[in-house]
Amino acid sequence: MMSSLLSMKVSRVAELEAFLFPLVCNSKGKRLVYTKWTARSFRISVNSKTCQHVGRNQRCQFLLHCCLSSEAVVNLSGSLIPSSSNIPPSILEKTREKLHLRPNHPLHILKKMIEKSIEDMHPREFSFYDDLPQLVSTTDCFDDLLVEWNHPSRRYTDTYYWDESHVLRTHMTAHDTTLLRAGKKAFVLTGDVYRRDSIDKSHYPVFHQVDAVRIFDRNTSQNEHKLIADLKSTLESLAKNIFQREVQIRWVDGEFPFTYPSFEMEVFWNGNWLELLGCGLLKRGVLDAGQVDKNSKGWAFGLGLERLAMVLFEIPDIRLFWSKDERFLQQFRDGKITKFKPYSKYPSCYKDITFWLSEKFHENAFYELVRTVAGDTVEEVALLDEFHRNNKTSHCYRIVYRSMDRSLTNDEVDEIQDKIREEVARRLEVILR
Ligand code: PHE
Repeated sequence: MMSSLLSMKVSRVAELEAFLFPLVCNSKGKRLVYTKWTARSFRISVNSKTCQHVGRNQRCQFLLHCCLSSEAVVNLSGSLIPSSSNIPPSILEKTREKLHLRPNHPLHILKKMIEKSIEDMHPREFSFYDDLPQLVSTTDCFDDLLVEWNHPSRRYTDTYYWDESHVLRTHMTAHDTTLLRAGKKAFVLTGDVYRRDSIDKSHYPVFHQVDAVRIFDRNTSQNEHKLIADLKSTLESLAKNIFQREVQIRWVDGEFPFTYPSFEMEVFWNGNWLELLGCGLLKRGVLDAGQVDKNSKGWAFGLGLERLAMVLFEIPDIRLFWSKDERFLQQFRDGKITKFKPYSKYPSCYKDITFWLSEKFHENAFYELVRTVAGDTVEEVALLDEFHRNNKTSHCYRIVYRSMDRSLTNDEVDEIQDKIREEVARRLEVILR
Protein backbone atom coordinates (compact mmCIF):
# COMPACT_ATOMS: atom_id res chain seq x y z
CA MET A 1 0.00 0.00 0.00
CA MET A 2 1.38 3.34 -1.00
CA SER A 3 1.43 5.76 1.88
CA SER A 4 2.36 9.35 2.12
CA LEU A 5 3.25 11.58 4.98
CA LEU A 6 2.02 15.01 5.59
CA SER A 7 3.52 16.79 8.50
CA MET A 8 3.14 20.33 9.46
CA LYS A 9 4.91 22.33 12.07
CA VAL A 10 2.74 24.67 14.02
CA SER A 11 3.70 26.55 17.09
CA ARG A 12 0.31 27.27 18.62
CA VAL A 13 -2.70 25.12 19.34
CA ALA A 14 -4.86 27.70 17.59
CA GLU A 15 -2.95 27.24 14.33
CA LEU A 16 -3.22 23.51 14.63
CA GLU A 17 -6.92 23.68 15.19
CA ALA A 18 -7.31 26.10 12.32
CA PHE A 19 -5.79 23.45 10.10
CA LEU A 20 -7.67 20.50 11.50
CA PHE A 21 -11.03 22.08 11.97
CA PRO A 22 -12.08 22.27 8.33
CA LEU A 23 -10.81 18.77 7.71
CA VAL A 24 -12.89 17.37 10.44
CA CYS A 25 -15.91 19.50 11.06
CA ASN A 26 -16.95 19.70 7.48
CA SER A 27 -16.87 16.04 6.75
CA LYS A 28 -20.51 15.22 6.70
CA GLY A 29 -20.26 11.51 7.45
CA LYS A 30 -19.76 10.23 10.93
CA ARG A 31 -16.89 7.89 10.26
CA LEU A 32 -14.20 10.49 10.71
CA VAL A 33 -13.56 10.93 14.38
CA TYR A 34 -11.58 13.72 15.91
CA THR A 35 -10.48 13.10 19.45
CA LYS A 36 -8.82 15.63 21.62
CA TRP A 37 -6.56 13.54 23.84
CA THR A 38 -5.05 16.19 25.99
CA ALA A 39 -4.80 19.91 25.59
CA ARG A 40 -1.87 19.24 23.35
CA SER A 41 -2.64 16.23 21.30
CA PHE A 42 -5.23 15.07 18.89
CA ARG A 43 -6.08 11.91 17.10
CA ILE A 44 -8.07 11.51 13.98
CA SER A 45 -9.43 8.23 12.86
CA VAL A 46 -11.27 7.14 9.79
CA ASN A 47 -13.46 4.09 10.10
CA SER A 48 -11.92 3.57 13.52
CA LYS A 49 -8.42 3.23 12.05
CA THR A 50 -6.16 6.02 13.23
CA CYS A 51 -4.84 7.77 10.20
CA GLN A 52 -3.54 10.99 11.60
CA HIS A 53 -1.59 11.65 14.75
CA VAL A 54 -0.74 14.88 16.27
CA GLY A 55 1.90 15.26 18.90
CA ARG A 56 4.42 17.59 20.24
CA ASN A 57 8.13 17.50 19.48
CA GLN A 58 11.03 18.45 21.75
CA ARG A 59 11.16 21.99 20.47
CA CYS A 60 7.65 22.56 21.72
CA GLN A 61 6.29 22.75 18.24
CA PHE A 62 3.33 20.69 17.35
CA LEU A 63 4.05 18.24 14.67
CA LEU A 64 1.03 17.18 12.77
CA HIS A 65 1.94 13.88 11.33
CA CYS A 66 -0.71 12.66 9.00
CA CYS A 67 -0.18 9.23 7.63
CA LEU A 68 -2.65 9.45 4.86
CA SER A 69 -2.47 6.15 3.13
CA SER A 70 -3.76 6.39 -0.39
CA GLU A 71 -6.61 4.25 0.85
CA ALA A 72 -7.41 6.72 3.54
CA VAL A 73 -7.40 9.50 0.97
CA VAL A 74 -9.79 7.49 -1.14
CA ASN A 75 -11.93 6.81 1.86
CA LEU A 76 -11.96 10.39 2.95
CA SER A 77 -12.88 11.64 -0.44
CA GLY A 78 -14.99 8.77 -1.63
CA SER A 79 -17.20 8.00 1.28
CA LEU A 80 -17.16 11.11 3.44
CA ILE A 81 -16.78 13.92 1.01
CA PRO A 82 -19.36 13.75 -1.69
CA SER A 83 -17.58 15.58 -4.48
CA SER A 84 -14.33 13.74 -3.66
CA SER A 85 -10.97 15.33 -3.15
CA ASN A 86 -8.75 15.62 -6.19
CA ILE A 87 -5.53 16.13 -4.24
CA PRO A 88 -3.04 13.34 -4.98
CA PRO A 89 -0.59 12.23 -2.26
CA SER A 90 2.32 13.71 -4.24
CA ILE A 91 0.75 17.16 -3.86
CA LEU A 92 -0.15 16.65 -0.20
CA GLU A 93 3.50 15.88 0.46
CA LYS A 94 4.51 19.23 -0.98
CA THR A 95 2.56 21.03 1.72
CA ARG A 96 5.29 20.22 4.22
CA GLU A 97 8.24 21.39 2.13
CA LYS A 98 7.81 25.14 2.63
CA LEU A 99 10.77 26.06 0.47
CA HIS A 100 10.34 29.75 1.30
CA LEU A 101 11.31 29.03 4.91
CA ARG A 102 14.57 27.21 4.14
CA PRO A 103 17.70 29.21 4.85
CA ASN A 104 19.88 29.80 1.78
CA HIS A 105 17.18 28.68 -0.64
CA PRO A 106 16.68 31.13 -3.55
CA LEU A 107 12.98 31.53 -2.71
CA HIS A 108 13.85 32.30 0.90
CA ILE A 109 16.52 34.79 -0.15
CA LEU A 110 14.02 36.63 -2.32
CA LYS A 111 11.28 36.55 0.29
CA LYS A 112 13.65 38.11 2.85
CA MET A 113 14.67 40.85 0.42
CA ILE A 114 11.06 41.74 -0.32
CA GLU A 115 10.15 41.80 3.37
CA LYS A 116 13.16 43.94 4.24
CA SER A 117 12.45 46.32 1.42
CA ILE A 118 8.85 46.84 2.59
CA GLU A 119 9.91 47.16 6.21
CA ASP A 120 12.55 49.78 5.28
CA MET A 121 10.02 51.78 3.27
CA HIS A 122 7.32 51.70 5.95
CA PRO A 123 9.03 50.94 9.28
CA ARG A 124 6.99 48.98 11.84
CA GLU A 125 3.77 49.34 9.85
CA PHE A 126 3.48 45.90 8.27
CA SER A 127 3.02 42.50 9.92
CA PHE A 128 4.69 39.57 8.17
CA TYR A 129 3.20 36.08 7.89
CA ASP A 130 4.86 33.14 6.21
CA ASP A 131 3.30 30.02 7.72
CA LEU A 132 -0.46 30.32 7.35
CA PRO A 133 -2.31 27.04 6.70
CA GLN A 134 -2.49 26.06 3.05
CA LEU A 135 -5.99 24.65 3.29
CA VAL A 136 -8.54 27.47 3.06
CA SER A 137 -12.28 27.68 2.57
CA THR A 138 -13.76 28.51 -0.81
CA THR A 139 -15.24 31.56 0.91
CA ASP A 140 -11.75 32.85 1.71
CA CYS A 141 -10.24 31.86 -1.60
CA PHE A 142 -13.05 32.96 -3.91
CA ASP A 143 -16.33 34.31 -2.49
CA ASP A 144 -14.91 37.04 -0.27
CA LEU A 145 -12.70 38.11 -3.16
CA LEU A 146 -15.70 38.43 -5.51
CA VAL A 147 -14.48 35.67 -7.80
CA GLU A 148 -17.48 34.83 -10.00
CA TRP A 149 -19.09 31.42 -9.56
CA ASN A 150 -18.05 30.40 -13.09
CA HIS A 151 -14.49 31.77 -12.96
CA PRO A 152 -11.96 29.21 -14.30
CA SER A 153 -9.98 29.24 -11.04
CA ARG A 154 -12.94 27.62 -9.27
CA ARG A 155 -12.97 24.62 -11.59
CA TYR A 156 -12.27 21.22 -10.23
CA THR A 157 -9.87 20.71 -13.14
CA ASP A 158 -7.84 23.79 -12.17
CA THR A 159 -7.87 23.72 -8.37
CA TYR A 160 -7.16 21.16 -5.67
CA TYR A 161 -10.33 20.61 -3.66
CA TRP A 162 -10.16 18.92 -0.28
CA ASP A 163 -13.91 18.82 -0.18
CA GLU A 164 -16.53 20.95 -1.82
CA SER A 165 -15.87 23.90 0.47
CA HIS A 166 -12.11 23.69 1.04
CA VAL A 167 -9.20 24.02 -1.34
CA LEU A 168 -5.44 24.19 -1.26
CA ARG A 169 -5.08 27.96 -1.66
CA THR A 170 -4.66 29.01 -5.27
CA HIS A 171 -3.21 32.37 -4.27
CA MET A 172 -2.06 34.10 -1.11
CA THR A 173 -4.82 36.68 -1.50
CA ALA A 174 -7.04 33.99 0.05
CA HIS A 175 -5.94 35.13 3.51
CA ASP A 176 -6.67 38.83 3.01
CA THR A 177 -10.22 39.08 4.34
CA THR A 178 -9.48 36.87 7.35
CA LEU A 179 -6.62 39.13 8.39
CA LEU A 180 -8.66 42.25 7.70
CA ARG A 181 -11.44 40.91 9.93
CA ALA A 182 -8.81 40.36 12.61
CA GLY A 183 -8.15 44.10 12.41
CA LYS A 184 -4.86 43.97 10.51
CA LYS A 185 -4.27 47.06 8.40
CA ALA A 186 -0.99 46.32 6.68
CA PHE A 187 0.51 42.89 6.07
CA VAL A 188 2.79 40.85 3.86
CA LEU A 189 2.06 37.15 3.29
CA THR A 190 4.39 34.56 1.80
CA GLY A 191 3.54 30.96 1.08
CA ASP A 192 3.09 28.04 -1.26
CA VAL A 193 0.08 28.06 -3.58
CA TYR A 194 -1.43 25.24 -5.62
CA ARG A 195 -2.87 25.04 -9.13
CA ARG A 196 -3.47 22.01 -11.29
CA ASP A 197 -1.27 22.61 -14.27
CA SER A 198 0.81 21.15 -17.06
CA ILE A 199 4.44 20.13 -16.56
CA ASP A 200 7.28 21.97 -18.22
CA LYS A 201 10.28 24.13 -17.45
CA SER A 202 8.22 27.02 -16.14
CA HIS A 203 5.08 25.37 -14.78
CA TYR A 204 4.75 23.38 -11.63
CA PRO A 205 1.56 22.67 -9.65
CA VAL A 206 3.04 24.27 -6.53
CA PHE A 207 4.67 27.67 -6.50
CA HIS A 208 5.16 30.55 -4.10
CA GLN A 209 3.70 34.02 -3.81
CA VAL A 210 4.17 37.16 -1.78
CA ASP A 211 1.02 39.22 -1.28
CA ALA A 212 0.57 42.48 0.58
CA VAL A 213 -2.26 44.75 1.69
CA ARG A 214 -2.16 48.32 2.97
CA ILE A 215 -5.29 49.98 4.36
CA PHE A 216 -5.60 53.74 4.80
CA ASP A 217 -8.04 54.90 7.42
CA ARG A 218 -10.41 57.83 7.20
CA ASN A 219 -7.84 60.26 8.54
CA THR A 220 -5.30 59.52 5.88
CA SER A 221 -5.81 60.86 2.42
CA GLN A 222 -8.57 58.95 0.68
CA ASN A 223 -8.07 60.32 -2.77
CA GLU A 224 -7.87 57.34 -5.14
CA HIS A 225 -5.13 58.93 -7.20
CA LYS A 226 -3.01 59.27 -4.10
CA LEU A 227 -3.57 55.65 -3.14
CA ILE A 228 -2.58 54.50 -6.61
CA ALA A 229 0.48 56.74 -6.48
CA ASP A 230 1.42 55.21 -3.11
CA LEU A 231 0.95 51.69 -4.47
CA LYS A 232 3.02 52.37 -7.56
CA SER A 233 5.82 54.12 -5.75
CA THR A 234 6.02 51.33 -3.17
CA LEU A 235 6.29 48.75 -5.95
CA GLU A 236 8.75 50.77 -7.99
CA SER A 237 11.07 51.03 -4.98
CA LEU A 238 10.60 47.33 -4.36
CA ALA A 239 11.64 46.54 -7.94
CA LYS A 240 14.68 48.79 -7.62
CA ASN A 241 15.74 47.02 -4.43
CA ILE A 242 15.25 43.55 -5.85
CA PHE A 243 16.99 44.20 -9.14
CA GLN A 244 19.60 46.23 -7.29
CA ARG A 245 19.62 49.01 -9.87
CA GLU A 246 17.33 51.46 -11.64
CA VAL A 247 15.13 49.34 -13.86
CA GLN A 248 12.75 50.41 -16.58
CA ILE A 249 9.18 49.80 -15.45
CA ARG A 250 5.88 49.96 -17.27
CA TRP A 251 2.33 49.76 -15.95
CA VAL A 252 -0.24 47.82 -17.90
CA ASP A 253 -3.96 47.68 -17.09
CA GLY A 254 -4.84 44.42 -15.40
CA GLU A 255 -7.99 42.62 -14.38
CA PHE A 256 -8.60 40.87 -11.10
CA PRO A 257 -11.99 40.15 -9.54
CA PHE A 258 -10.97 41.76 -6.25
CA THR A 259 -9.34 45.03 -7.31
CA TYR A 260 -10.38 48.09 -9.29
CA PRO A 261 -8.56 49.67 -10.90
CA SER A 262 -6.08 46.85 -11.46
CA PHE A 263 -2.57 46.99 -12.87
CA GLU A 264 0.28 44.75 -13.82
CA MET A 265 3.83 45.86 -13.37
CA GLU A 266 6.38 44.88 -15.98
CA VAL A 267 10.12 45.27 -15.74
CA PHE A 268 12.52 45.50 -18.67
CA TRP A 269 15.22 42.91 -18.02
CA ASN A 270 17.72 41.33 -20.39
CA GLY A 271 15.91 42.65 -23.44
CA ASN A 272 12.43 41.44 -22.43
CA TRP A 273 9.42 42.86 -20.62
CA LEU A 274 8.91 40.63 -17.62
CA GLU A 275 5.46 40.56 -16.05
CA LEU A 276 6.27 40.84 -12.38
CA LEU A 277 3.11 41.30 -10.37
CA GLY A 278 -0.59 42.14 -10.22
CA CYS A 279 -2.04 44.85 -8.02
CA GLY A 280 -4.81 47.39 -7.53
CA LEU A 281 -7.19 49.05 -5.10
CA LEU A 282 -9.30 46.57 -3.15
CA LYS A 283 -12.95 46.67 -4.19
CA ARG A 284 -15.50 47.83 -1.63
CA GLY A 285 -17.06 44.35 -1.60
CA VAL A 286 -13.77 42.84 -0.49
CA LEU A 287 -13.28 45.48 2.19
CA ASP A 288 -16.83 44.76 3.38
CA ALA A 289 -16.05 41.05 3.62
CA GLY A 290 -13.02 42.07 5.69
CA GLN A 291 -15.25 44.29 7.86
CA VAL A 292 -13.13 47.30 7.03
CA ASP A 293 -14.55 50.67 8.04
CA LYS A 294 -16.71 52.28 5.33
CA ASN A 295 -14.41 55.26 5.15
CA SER A 296 -11.24 53.27 4.66
CA LYS A 297 -9.66 52.17 1.41
CA GLY A 298 -6.63 50.14 0.54
CA TRP A 299 -4.34 48.58 -2.02
CA ALA A 300 -3.10 45.04 -2.56
CA PHE A 301 -0.52 43.31 -4.69
CA GLY A 302 0.59 39.75 -5.39
CA LEU A 303 3.84 38.53 -6.87
CA GLY A 304 5.05 35.08 -7.95
CA LEU A 305 8.43 34.21 -6.47
CA GLU A 306 9.59 31.47 -8.87
CA ARG A 307 9.33 33.53 -12.02
CA LEU A 308 11.29 36.34 -10.43
CA ALA A 309 13.87 33.98 -8.93
CA MET A 310 14.38 32.22 -12.27
CA VAL A 311 15.26 35.54 -13.87
CA LEU A 312 17.42 36.92 -11.06
CA PHE A 313 19.36 33.75 -10.21
CA GLU A 314 19.27 32.54 -13.84
CA ILE A 315 17.68 29.26 -12.82
CA PRO A 316 16.59 27.56 -16.07
CA ASP A 317 14.04 25.04 -14.80
CA ILE A 318 11.33 25.50 -12.16
CA ARG A 319 11.84 21.97 -10.86
CA LEU A 320 15.32 22.88 -9.66
CA PHE A 321 13.74 24.74 -6.72
CA TRP A 322 12.64 21.34 -5.40
CA SER A 323 16.00 19.68 -5.95
CA LYS A 324 17.74 18.09 -3.01
CA ASP A 325 21.01 17.99 -4.94
CA GLU A 326 23.80 19.67 -2.99
CA ARG A 327 25.22 20.97 -6.26
CA PHE A 328 22.13 23.15 -6.41
CA LEU A 329 21.56 23.92 -2.73
CA GLN A 330 25.19 24.81 -1.98
CA GLN A 331 25.23 27.57 -4.56
CA PHE A 332 23.12 30.11 -2.69
CA ARG A 333 23.55 32.20 0.45
CA ASP A 334 21.05 34.33 2.34
CA GLY A 335 21.25 38.01 1.47
CA LYS A 336 22.89 37.49 -1.92
CA ILE A 337 21.63 37.09 -5.45
CA THR A 338 24.14 35.00 -7.36
CA LYS A 339 23.94 33.43 -10.80
CA PHE A 340 23.18 29.73 -10.93
CA LYS A 341 26.11 27.73 -12.31
CA PRO A 342 24.75 24.81 -14.30
CA TYR A 343 26.22 21.44 -13.52
CA SER A 344 26.13 18.55 -15.90
CA LYS A 345 22.63 17.25 -16.29
CA TYR A 346 21.81 13.61 -16.04
CA PRO A 347 20.74 12.10 -19.38
CA SER A 348 17.12 12.23 -20.44
CA CYS A 349 15.02 9.68 -22.26
CA TYR A 350 11.48 9.73 -23.58
CA LYS A 351 8.54 7.38 -23.98
CA ASP A 352 5.33 7.96 -25.90
CA ILE A 353 1.85 7.00 -24.84
CA THR A 354 -1.16 6.94 -27.17
CA PHE A 355 -4.81 6.45 -26.30
CA TRP A 356 -8.42 7.10 -27.28
CA LEU A 357 -9.93 9.76 -25.02
CA SER A 358 -12.83 9.04 -22.71
CA GLU A 359 -15.48 11.26 -21.13
CA LYS A 360 -13.44 11.26 -17.95
CA PHE A 361 -10.30 12.49 -19.64
CA HIS A 362 -9.02 15.97 -18.88
CA GLU A 363 -5.56 17.13 -19.81
CA ASN A 364 -4.74 18.46 -16.31
CA ALA A 365 -5.86 15.22 -14.72
CA PHE A 366 -3.56 13.36 -17.08
CA TYR A 367 -0.56 15.58 -16.29
CA GLU A 368 -1.24 15.14 -12.64
CA LEU A 369 -1.48 11.38 -12.89
CA VAL A 370 1.85 11.33 -14.68
CA ARG A 371 3.36 13.42 -11.93
CA THR A 372 1.78 11.32 -9.20
CA VAL A 373 3.28 8.16 -10.59
CA ALA A 374 6.60 9.53 -11.81
CA GLY A 375 7.23 12.38 -9.37
CA ASP A 376 9.99 14.75 -10.36
CA THR A 377 11.55 12.31 -12.80
CA VAL A 378 9.30 13.84 -15.46
CA GLU A 379 10.82 16.77 -17.22
CA GLU A 380 8.07 17.42 -19.70
CA VAL A 381 4.84 16.03 -21.08
CA ALA A 382 3.93 17.24 -24.55
CA LEU A 383 1.02 16.50 -26.84
CA LEU A 384 2.65 15.18 -30.02
CA ASP A 385 -0.36 14.30 -32.08
CA GLU A 386 -4.12 14.38 -32.11
CA PHE A 387 -6.46 12.74 -34.60
CA HIS A 388 -10.13 11.92 -34.94
CA ARG A 389 -11.88 8.87 -36.30
CA ASN A 390 -15.53 7.78 -35.99
CA ASN A 391 -16.29 10.45 -33.39
CA LYS A 392 -13.35 9.36 -31.31
CA THR A 393 -10.23 11.37 -30.50
CA SER A 394 -6.78 9.95 -30.03
CA HIS A 395 -3.92 11.72 -28.26
CA CYS A 396 -0.26 10.84 -28.34
CA TYR A 397 1.92 12.31 -25.57
CA ARG A 398 5.66 12.28 -25.25
CA ILE A 399 6.87 11.96 -21.68
CA VAL A 400 10.45 13.12 -21.20
CA TYR A 401 12.17 11.63 -18.17
CA ARG A 402 15.17 13.16 -16.48
CA SER A 403 16.03 13.27 -12.83
CA MET A 404 17.62 16.39 -11.42
CA ASP A 405 19.42 14.33 -8.82
CA ARG A 406 20.59 11.06 -10.38
CA SER A 407 20.82 8.84 -13.44
CA LEU A 408 17.68 6.87 -14.19
CA THR A 409 18.06 3.30 -15.38
CA ASN A 410 16.18 1.95 -18.39
CA ASP A 411 14.34 -0.60 -16.31
CA GLU A 412 13.25 2.04 -13.88
CA VAL A 413 11.82 4.25 -16.62
CA ASP A 414 10.06 1.28 -18.25
CA GLU A 415 8.49 0.43 -14.95
CA ILE A 416 7.27 3.99 -14.42
CA GLN A 417 5.89 4.14 -17.96
CA ASP A 418 4.03 0.84 -17.47
CA LYS A 419 2.55 2.13 -14.26
CA ILE A 420 1.45 5.35 -15.97
CA ARG A 421 -0.24 3.33 -18.73
CA GLU A 422 -2.02 1.21 -16.17
CA GLU A 423 -3.19 4.15 -14.06
CA VAL A 424 -4.28 6.29 -17.00
CA ALA A 425 -6.37 3.45 -18.36
CA ARG A 426 -7.85 2.68 -14.97
CA ARG A 427 -8.54 6.15 -13.65
CA LEU A 428 -9.24 8.18 -16.78
CA GLU A 429 -10.83 5.28 -18.60
CA VAL A 430 -8.95 5.89 -21.82
CA ILE A 431 -8.32 3.08 -24.30
CA LEU A 432 -4.60 2.49 -24.72
CA ARG A 433 -3.32 1.92 -28.23
N1 PHE B 1 -3.85 36.94 -6.45
C1 PHE B 1 -3.43 37.43 -7.73
C2 PHE B 1 -2.82 36.24 -8.52
O1 PHE B 1 -2.63 35.17 -7.98
C3 PHE B 1 -2.43 38.55 -7.63
C4 PHE B 1 -3.00 39.81 -7.02
C5 PHE B 1 -2.96 40.01 -5.66
C6 PHE B 1 -3.54 40.79 -7.84
C7 PHE B 1 -3.48 41.17 -5.10
C8 PHE B 1 -4.07 41.96 -7.30
C9 PHE B 1 -4.02 42.12 -5.93
O2 PHE B 1 -2.50 36.36 -9.69
